[in-house]
Amino acid sequence: MGYNLLKGKKGIIFGALNEKSIAWKVAERCHEEGAEFTLSNTPIAIRMGNSSELAKQFDTQVIPADATKVEDIENVFKGTLEQFNGKIDFILHSIGMSPNVRKRKPYDELNYDFFQKTLDISALSFHKVLQTAKKFDAINEWGSVIALSYIAAQRTLFEYNDMADAKAALESIARSFGYIYGREKKIRINTISQSPTPTTAGSGVKGFGGLLDFTERMSPLGNATAEECADYCVTLFSDLTRKITMQNLYHDGGFSSMGMSYRAMQMYNKSLECKDCKENPYNQELEEE
Ligand SMILES: NC(=O)c1ccc[n+]([C@@H]2O[C@H](COP(=O)([O-])OP(=O)(O)OC[C@H]3O[C@@H](n4cnc5c(N)ncnc54)[C@H](O)[C@@H]3O)[C@@H](O)[C@H]2O)c1
Repeated sequence: MGYNLLKGKKGIIFGALNEKSIAWKVAERCHEEGAEFTLSNTPIAIRMGNSSELAKQFDTQVIPADATKVEDIENVFKGTLEQFNGKIDFILHSIGMSPNVRKRKPYDELNYDFFQKTLDISALSFHKVLQTAKKFDAINEWGSVIALSYIAAQRTLFEYNDMADAKAALESIARSFGYIYGREKKIRINTISQSPTPTTAGSGVKGFGGLLDFTERMSPLGNATAEECADYCVTLFSDLTRKITMQNLYHDGGFSSMGMSYRAMQMYNKSLECKDCKENPYNQELEEE
């Protein structure tokens, strides 16, 4: 059920590849809340994924763009401003890719051409989107821009690889640009640090199934789903959050504040050999609970 939180608002949603994509869920929720938007993705993602169907469903267009190319991003803004015959109110940057992760290159054996691509696609593209938006004066006052991040920007997680560096840069760009855009145009910029989510990009991380189970056990509220992330995006695009800017906002069921949980400890102990289990003082405590 919608609450008309985005009634009359217009936007651009980058990164809806298929039904599992976080951006896809955001598009659906924004529509429910009364927003109109254009979609954008790479030409190959448009061919291989289902974003054209999503566009048809919401009577809009998918504008092809490789987000590393400024000319492509300019086309997205031109097409969008033309479609709405005016400025927009929100942007979702839901873009990430690491060729090193894809090719299973460990962090101490990175391919540097790939590393540059990771940074360009997953972090610099956010700056390019913001700089282009500002150049075109495309966003209304009190507009809102969100990029999706991950806790690997702050903490080291096994196999997240060079995407951790990209996310750290992404969050920093939100702060640095947030200062300028806030001061000059009253536009807010935030990143949402989302739980692991079973999407095409998420599932590409080695050991993703185990990570998903671990974070579920560690988070008092459980992992946040893509649909819940979409709900959160709606609130941040709405007028109810106008003074939130330059923040990295954890949307992770509490994971980021945890050190060890009962459920995770139980599983960890189960995985120890039986004779070790008996000797383990934590196990005895757990049995007593
Ligand atoms: N899935 C997770 O576990 C998780 C957790 C935290 C944050 N995130 C972030 O959420 C965002 C969306 O990812 P997702 O999980 O929905 O997966 P997804 O695979 O559905 O989306 C990633 C999108 O990035 C697009 N993309 C890749 N290269 C591009 C380029 N050069 N130009 C433009 N677009 C390009 C892809 O086409 C795809 O649509 C990413 O930034 C990701 O890092 C994901």
